[in-house]
Amino acid sequence: MSNLDDRMWATMPSRRSFLQRMGLGVGALGAGLFGGLALPESVLAVCEPPGNPGTPKPWRKDCRMILPRRPASTLSAAEITQLKDAYKAMRALDTSAPNDPRGFLRQANVHCWYCGAGTQVHFTWQFFAWHRAYLYFHERILGKLIGDMNFRLPYWDWDTPSHRKLPGAYSDPNDNSNPLWNGTRSMDPTEEIPEEDVGEDVMEAALTADTFTEFGGTTSGSGIPEGTPHGAVHVDVGGDMGFFDSAGKDPVFYAHHANVDKMWSDWNKASSIHTNPTATAFLNLTWNFYDENKVWRSIKASQVLNHDTQLRYTYGPSKFLEQLPCLLDWFPIKTDWRVSQTLKFAGQTRAKMMKVVEQGGRARLHLNDLAVPTEKSAVYRLYATPEAAKADEGPGSKGYLGTVPVVLNDRERRHVSKNARNIAVRLSTAKLEALSGTVGPVRLALVERGVKPEARKVIPVRAKDVLLSVAEVEREER
Ligand code: C2O
Repeated sequence: MSNLDDRMWATMPSRRSFLQRMGLGVGALGAGLFGGLALPESVLAVCEPPGNPGTPKPWRKDCRMILPRRPASTLSAAEITQLKDAYKAMRALDTSAPNDPRGFLRQANVHCWYCGAGTQVHFTWQFFAWHRAYLYFHERILGKLIGDMNFRLPYWDWDTPSHRKLPGAYSDPNDNSNPLWNGTRSMDPTEEIPEEDVGEDVMEAALTADTFTEFGGTTSGSGIPEGTPHGAVHVDVGGDMGFFDSAGKDPVFYAHHANVDKMWSDWNKASSIHTNPTATAFLNLTWNFYDENKVWRSIKASQVLNHDTQLRYTYGPSKFLEQLPCLLDWFPIKTDWRVSQTLKFAGQTRAKMMKVVEQGGRARLHLNDLAVPTEKSAVYRLYATPEAAKADEGPGSKGYLGTVPVVLNDRERRHVSKNARNIAVRLSTAKLEALSGTVGPVRLALVERGVKPEARKVIPVRAKDVLLSVAEVEREER
């Protein structure tokens, strides 16, 4: 069930057509442009195939010390200077050695290639493992460029309420004297990522997913956190971050993804049943990257599953993790969505869900294979009724359920992904009450956040399936 668009693109952009699009023509090709001569900056500005450097050398082991990646906002002045020096050196390669695969734009283009231009890792079970491998090589390159292999990437812990602004290092100074700055962001240094995109309900819905399928996706569909929080933060930062093909051009991308990677790590730690796939099709997923010595390497999913021992970094203790309730298995509650495209939230369903939540358990709403508008990157809000969507009174208001981000692969919509978006939102008591207060069947609807009332367009939810589920809280019986 792989995506037709993606497959077409995987075979289409030959070097020749690529160069012609760049206006370079066949003459330049004939002159051996890729045979060691510098690539012009105009080429670096767009997504470039990683090239064909021959057979990769397998990645084997890393002998660095095991050291923590730390929250970006807790770095010391000296550590911030070091981080800035590393990106400065990486950016310098863009002009001094545009063919060097360790240069900043070449690094950014790796992400571009894997988000639809070449192949697609997003909205599949490759999402967490591929980004972990990508950040790993990126981190080693930064370390090498400053001559300190003890360097570890920082993470932007937007799940900590006081850390929801862009981390200081990345926006201070907020101009191009700062190698961590990006001038295209729509988020101002004074703004914060909204609670509804990264708050407790969102983190909990992801970290309590009890199978990898739900947390990390399948061969053709996403896990819960890939939408919110992951995608929502992309849209909130905006500019280059708002599209996968350009996201790697904003240094804050790597800090954002380190936190996404930490979520995977936290999810694994949250329960003994939170295990990664054991299918060989997953374990043998293989990707190639240039390492810090410009050596073309291949690495497998099975080689990134234990980030501490294999990749030599840890994440600090997670306060949030300690607060998670110990839930029993999720228990699905059937709905008649497939028949009627509505939910009846009444009678036994309502009683069961209310009871579980009142006793400290959890309830969820799942949207499987949700169709979303793809004309732009944006955050949509999910409501229980079209009327509530039209009013769009936000979190806490009647009928509000959560956010659904859409991050396009590229601005021009050349690579629209058809992989499934699977969403789950936590249903707090208030949300359950709002659902039960709805007159008649629940007709879910989306509306773009931040649009003026006159321009608001209510979009009825189209999804392959909509499910409800509950998990009772584990009680100690003594
Ligand atoms: Cu590969 Cu957050 O995107």
